[in-house]
Amino acid sequence: MQVVSSVSEFQRLCLDLRCSGQITALVPTMGYFHDGHLSLMRWARENADTVLVSLFVNPSQFGPNEDLDRYPRDIERDKALAREEGVDVVFMPREDDIYRPGHDTWVDVPGLSTFLCGQSRPHFFRGVCTIVCKLLTMALPCKAVFGQKDWQQMVVVTRMVGDLNLPVEIVGRPTVREDDGLAMSSRNAYLTERERSQAAHIHAGLQKVQEWVQAGEKQTSSLKKRLMDYYAQHVPSGRIDYVHFVHPWELTPREHVEKEILVAVAVHVGSARLIDNMLVQG
Ligand code: PAF
Repeated sequence: MQVVSSVSEFQRLCLDLRCSGQITALVPTMGYFHDGHLSLMRWARENADTVLVSLFVNPSQFGPNEDLDRYPRDIERDKALAREEGVDVVFMPREDDIYRPGHDTWVDVPGLSTFLCGQSRPHFFRGVCTIVCKLLTMALPCKAVFGQKDWQQMVVVTRMVGDLNLPVEIVGRPTVREDDGLAMSSRNAYLTERERSQAAHIHAGLQKVQEWVQAGEKQTSSLKKRLMDYYAQHVPSGRIDYVHFVHPWELTPREHVEKEILVAVAVHVGSARLIDNMLVQG
């Protein structure tokens, strides 16, 4: 496994791979790997000749009062895990090589970025789109793999790639969960034991929504109220950021559950802001 930190070296390497006809897959990450990340690498290993993993805690997607400084990091462990998954190249750029002095170019997908997470994190998707666009143009991968836990991120990036005619396929892979259903996330490390046990109910609540829909409740306003009540009871240390019922790809609110609807939630539990979602069938 090669570890590359220079942008120009990574660009040369990736250009050679693409020109030699290799199928390459990029897994963009901010590190502190868990099974969710590893499942993306495994998918890439099975579906590409060369697997590229980027590891960069991207400052531009964090707001001024967010957790950039304490975002968990363990680079040596990450490298060992990537090696075990058969990753070919880990790209760990320096911040000043990505955002050079005077950097002033941003990629924005304003329509899709203003709902859901965009409401409480207005800077977030601009930062994500800018870094993902940079990584895609540096790595020139045939495929780029994203976790569906960050559903909105996957939708926004897919739109960006379409709008910019970037020659890459965006692949979304299912959320990997702990045994009790909690979606794996690097931010789970912030939870105390008590918060951790309550956080499992975030997913349990989403499963309840599917049950309520199957039992005949199709109005999203009623479903939302029931879900908020469920969280108030089972996640008492939680503070709900949002609960939304939206079209999965347009992310616009829906009043009724028809064919398929995305239920997306964000809940602050202790000092962690946790997100999760479920596609509910009507
Ligand atoms: O999902 C993440 O870890 C990040 O948002 C990403 C896509 C690596 C961009 O920094």
